[in-house]
Amino acid sequence: MNNRKKGSLFERINTMTKPKDSNHLTAREIRQIARENRRVTDALENKRNRKNVPESEYLTTMKNPDNVVEFDGLRTYFFTDIGTVKAVDGVSFEIPRGKTVGVVGESGCGKSVTSLSLMQLVQRPLGQIVDGAIRFDTGDKVYDIAQTPYQVMEKIRGSKVSMIFQEPNTSLNPVFTAGYQIDEVIQLHNPEMTPEEVKALSIEMIDMVGIANSEGVYNMYPHELSGGMRQRIMIAMALSCSPKLIIADEPTTALDVTIQAQILDLLRNLKDQINSSIMLITHDLGVIAEMADYVVVMYAGRVVEKGTATEVFKNPQHPYTVGLMASKPVINRSVERLYTIPGNVPNPVNMPNHCYFRDRCERRTAVCNGAYPQEVHITDTHIAACYHTSAAEKQV
Ligand SMILES: Nc1ncnc2c1ncn2[C@@H]1O[C@H](COP(=O)(O)OP(=O)(O)OP(=O)(O)O)[C@@H](O)[C@H]1O
Ligand code: SF4
Ligand SMILES: [Mg+2]
Repeated sequence: MNNRKKGSLFERINTMTKPKDSNHLTAREIRQIARENRRVTDALENKRNRKNVPESEYLTTMKNPDNVVEFDGLRTYFFTDIGTVKAVDGVSFEIPRGKTVGVVGESGCGKSVTSLSLMQLVQRPLGQIVDGAIRFDTGDKVYDIAQTPYQVMEKIRGSKVSMIFQEPNTSLNPVFTAGYQIDEVIQLHNPEMTPEEVKALSIEMIDMVGIANSEGVYNMYPHELSGGMRQRIMIAMALSCSPKLIIADEPTTALDVTIQAQILDLLRNLKDQINSSIMLITHDLGVIAEMADYVVVMYAGRVVEKGTATEVFKNPQHPYTVGLMASKPVINRSVERLYTIPGNVPNPVNMPNHCYFRDRCERRTAVCNGAYPQEVHITDTHIAACYHTSAAEKQV
């Protein structure tokens, strides 16, 4: 995967100034961090801004041809004045063809930054992919998105991979009609189509996402539509070029429960119709249980558990996953108060060298003070990074 050389940029990042306490930095420390940041981000930006990069630098092959995406040791860092925020720190998981992979975890654990890395939409130059690969099979070629130049990425984004955001109010432009905005996406990726063909396809898409009176809605502005309809328009835009992968980042959080269920149903059906895969990001384990074939649990920029949905729900191994499950309301089970996981996610600037969940973990023992735990295989597909999984206990 990573052909990491001695003295490489990644090694340099690891030796950068590490503030002991990012809340109390002297002006001198801040200046030093800013200088080091500029050196690293300039080097990365210069590499990214090169013109005419040969395809051999960014085309690759999938490890398993049944996957559409393979995250392999992805590290995405933000070089801020108070230190390096390791938002995504060595994340590996796969998205199999035609399947839905749910990514779950508390706020700030790196779910969105993982998906934004795949879209090359991380806020640059502050945010950078510093290591690892994101292999993406678009059907005709396999790209390593971490190495792909942005001019090439502009053709992939929107046509081969598209994103549905949480808040349709801010994602749709209020001064253009819904139809105009869908037309724009189709036109951009299909320049050979005539304006009449583009309009016909937009109306077909509005129909497809279950909106009656598609021709009328084509001419409406976002403020004339309800929240659920706006989210359907976003889905129509995202699916208009039949992408291989749909990223849905909290697609239903802003909607009421009935509309939520309808939108999830719609996404599931459309995914099968256009033969696509879904990366579904959410806080809501209920949504994951209903939609996902595979589950990835993230904590503080790392994957702590992953497996098929049945494995993770029936036999959760990592205490963090167990805590997330216990904090979810269950029908027919009455409790006085819902469980909450004690404590907070550690400061991403000064991550400890031991298990990141240790200070909140009720299962911790002396062994947990050791190095960050290795991944343990419970089955071929079920993996957890913890010293006290059932498989790890058996080995002792
Ligand atoms: N532009 C940025 N500058 C600095 N840090 C950032 C930036 N964007 C994200 N981060 C940091 O990266 C970490 C991961 O953020 P991310 O948005 O991926 O979390 P998330 O899991 O999607 O959370 P949520 O559930 O709240 O959406 C957080 O610690 C966040 O503060
Ligand atoms: S390694 Fe130890 S502290 Fe970390 S989650 Fe497992 S039991 Fe808890
Ligand atoms: Mg997010």
